[in-house]
Amino acid sequence: MSQFLSNCSADALATMAQALKNGSLVAFPTETVYGLGADATNTTAVARIYKVKGRPADHPLIVHIANLKYLEQWISDIPEYAIALAREFWPGPMTLILRRSELAKDFITGGQNTVGIRIPDNSLALGLLEAFHKLGGSGIAAPSANRFGQVSPTTADAVKDELGSYLADSDVVLDGGPSEVGLESTIIDCTGNLPKILRPGAITIAMIEEVTSLKVFKSLDNQTDNFERDNIRVSGSLENHYAPKAKVFLDQQPVVSSGFIALEDIETPEGVIRLAAPKSVGEFARVLYSALREGDRQSLDSIYIIQPAGEGIAIAIRDRLVRSAKGSK
Ligand code: TXA
Ligand code: MG
Repeated sequence: MSQFLSNCSADALATMAQALKNGSLVAFPTETVYGLGADATNTTAVARIYKVKGRPADHPLIVHIANLKYLEQWISDIPEYAIALAREFWPGPMTLILRRSELAKDFITGGQNTVGIRIPDNSLALGLLEAFHKLGGSGIAAPSANRFGQVSPTTADAVKDELGSYLADSDVVLDGGPSEVGLESTIIDCTGNLPKILRPGAITIAMIEEVTSLKVFKSLDNQTDNFERDNIRVSGSLENHYAPKAKVFLDQQPVVSSGFIALEDIETPEGVIRLAAPKSVGEFARVLYSALREGDRQSLDSIYIIQPAGEGIAIAIRDRLVRSAKGSK
């Protein structure tokens, strides 16, 4: 079993950074979800990420860095609007897709000529990244720390449940408490004239448009909230992602003994198990994945969810819910 660490000192973070340098995997908290990290320049270590996750090898990974100083080495070009987004929203729940440099090899980008970069807003993640850069590291590749197609983990315990039996003794899981946002980062393709959202998240269309003074390029089907991704391989955009073991039903009358998730002001129908009653859409995002996991822990056959309405992060919640419903059996 891998090591499990909480309350990390600077010394412990330096040891962890060294473990990454040596080719080990380190799962760490971020404000969105927990990531499974490896040295982004180490082909063997990155190959282990794919193995541990059970993820197809051609799906690209996000490279995490500690600050803007480390951005340039990874990219060959950056438009003005992306610089504005980086300055405003990093560290934060946003990934920018930019044209790659030589450093971003095919085993990171899935053979595409772009690379995804993010500066996470979490003190443990930033401490680990700083310590890693200090050792000469360029960046930490980290997908969400779940098995392919499953629900992303928002606690260290969830990481252990997902990946514990696949990790090696030398791998580490860092415990930083529950993730504050609870949904994966907004992914913005910055290779065109206009920013384009590939995966909605806590950085919303309105926030992007305000900072860039540009219209977000919309290939958005307004009726279903479905984001088109052209032919880019965004595994998080697969229709059957984010699925728990229970069957997920959206906006339907629940059957007895099923799980139920809805905003607080929606009453619990008789005979069902309330898994979450968030007071706001922000809280909905934060608790959704742990509520789905709790449904699985209780071996529920089905979970009924009333989708939150509105713009902002509600769009990201509905995006994940629709996929979750399609992916569950
Ligand atoms: O919040 C997050 O983004 C979390 C935390 C750990 O940072 N990470 C995360 O990674 O969600 P992952 O691998 O589970 O999802 C990242 C998505 C994948 O669907 C991947 O295909 C897409 O980002 N992606 C990565 N690089 C890309 C690129 N160059 N072009 C298009 N999509 C890319
Ligand atoms: Mg993922």
